[in-house]
Amino acid sequence: MIDLKEKIDRSRLPNHVAIIMDGNGRWARERGSHRIFGHQNGITSVRETVEGAGELGIKYLTLYAFSKENWCRPPEEIDALMGLMISTINSETETLIKNNVRLMIIGDMQNLPAYITEKLNEVAGLTAGNDGLTLIIALSYGSRWEIAGAARRIAEDVISGKIEMEKINENTFSEYLLTKSIPDPELLIRTSGECRISNFLLWQIAYTELHFSQTLWPDFRKEHLYKAIIDFQKRERRFGKTSEQIKCD
Ligand code: FPP
Repeated sequence: MIDLKEKIDRSRLPNHVAIIMDGNGRWARERGSHRIFGHQNGITSVRETVEGAGELGIKYLTLYAFSKENWCRPPEEIDALMGLMISTINSETETLIKNNVRLMIIGDMQNLPAYITEKLNEVAGLTAGNDGLTLIIALSYGSRWEIAGAARRIAEDVISGKIEMEKINENTFSEYLLTKSIPDPELLIRTSGECRISNFLLWQIAYTELHFSQTLWPDFRKEHLYKAIIDFQKRERRFGKTSEQIKCD
């Protein structure tokens, strides 16, 4: 079997990989099971992906775990997802610390039950000093909500005289997003064959390479991450320039 990991050029790794984990429901349905069974099995994929990214030396990994729109799902599915989130964080805290992983959360914390936010803040605090992989969990996250919030906070700071309106540019705007200390993703993966962005990091993915995988999330393993990175490394990233200009850089 070809060793996909060996095919990765370690000098050209994406600094930040973001993933839309999709297909848990379909994976469960294919097995005649309830959607929650798919989410439960998706945890193994989360573990594999975090481990795979850490081993390669990727610096940032963002996982879209629960969108603001997901609050419309049946209450028993929401409860199960929140329970899974907490039990995974609980059981993995030691491993995160041991492996030098820093945990960060982005999303609308107002909507989350207190026992969840308290636990997440506790683990984020415990791992804040780690400088290996930064694992960012997008939870109760929506990109339009994030952008609107940034616009509101900028307006407040203009009114209070903290910043001048004329000084607002793309860099200032980025500073008001929840991802302010995080570089933009270079690679975005979505599983399950759906080719949509679903309100995820809309500002941050302006120049991100997109990789759509047919694999349903509970089947996603390190090899699928390697395949996406190999695909990324074959792309020519032009950032609006011509191919010739890139070669001269
Ligand atoms: C999308 O599949 C998946 C989700 C909405 C939830 C993903 C969350 C996890 C796997 C738990 C993550 C936990 C941690 C700690 C990061 P879907 O239900 O939309 O699938 P479908 O499109 O096939 O119905």
